Amino acid sequence: MSDNRPIGVFDSGIGGITVLKALRARMPHENLVYLGDMARLPYGTKSAETVTAYSLQTTKHLLTHDVKMIVIACNTASSVALAPLQKALAPLPVIGVIEPGADAAVKATKTGHIAVIATEATVRVGAYVRAIHARAPDAHVLQEPCALFVTLAEEGWLSGDVVEAAAHRYLDPLFNRKNAPDTLVLGCTHFPALAKTIRKVAGRGVRLVDSAETTARAVEDALDIQGLATKRKTRGKTKFLATDSAERFARVGGIFFGEVIRPKDVEIVDLQFG
Ligand code: DGL
Repeated sequence: MSDNRPIGVFDSGIGGITVLKALRARMPHENLVYLGDMARLPYGTKSAETVTAYSLQTTKHLLTHDVKMIVIACNTASSVALAPLQKALAPLPVIGVIEPGADAAVKATKTGHIAVIATEATVRVGAYVRAIHARAPDAHVLQEPCALFVTLAEEGWLSGDVVEAAAHRYLDPLFNRKNAPDTLVLGCTHFPALAKTIRKVAGRGVRLVDSAETTARAVEDALDIQGLATKRKTRGKTKFLATDSAERFARVGGIFFGEVIRPKDVEIVDLQFG
């Protein structure tokens, strides 16, 4: 049987488009619907309770598009809301980005010294530290919250003096030390957009890991195992939804997606806040 229902993907903003792009590259025949909660960005500075409430509202809207699976393309929401979402939406499969990212980090490191950069909320709950230690109990994991990277990425400032200065401020303490990490986890879906600068500042020998690729693989496996994959051979459609700022979503999201997104391609949705 061919299941042609879309996969629902959400993030606080446009960062999750890095995951969306990986999903589309891996499963070009699947339909995708992406919701960026631009009206309430950032999630990364908010409490676990607030992020969980926002994530529940966001997924509730995606359900109106008859999705067959939810992908949380946001590390912050994956860190604090994965279990509540899985419980609330069962039997609908819900996949987050933390476990696939931790897998990739453990495979990438040679020395066992790993650094994680993420939002304040992801660092606070230690989601990556836990997931990495579950796979490699002896790993040394350093973490650093880098909230400003989210703002820079949403602004479309992906390189240049300002990004470099911020990168030095955040990364120098992680890498200018004995036993510096050989692997750096980009633990926020906004950060791959800044990868060029991050690589330059962290040092060329450092392996950058992001969860986009590994999450796409986990989604593909889950669809296959549960018999939810499409059998269609034509290209799937991607639908963009946002809670605000269609123009900004299109302008900066297009850079993340690597394809033009026009403001009229972005449907503004009301999640009935309040
Ligand atoms: N893209 C989100 C993440 O992966 C965070 C951005 C935000 O703070 O809302 O954590």
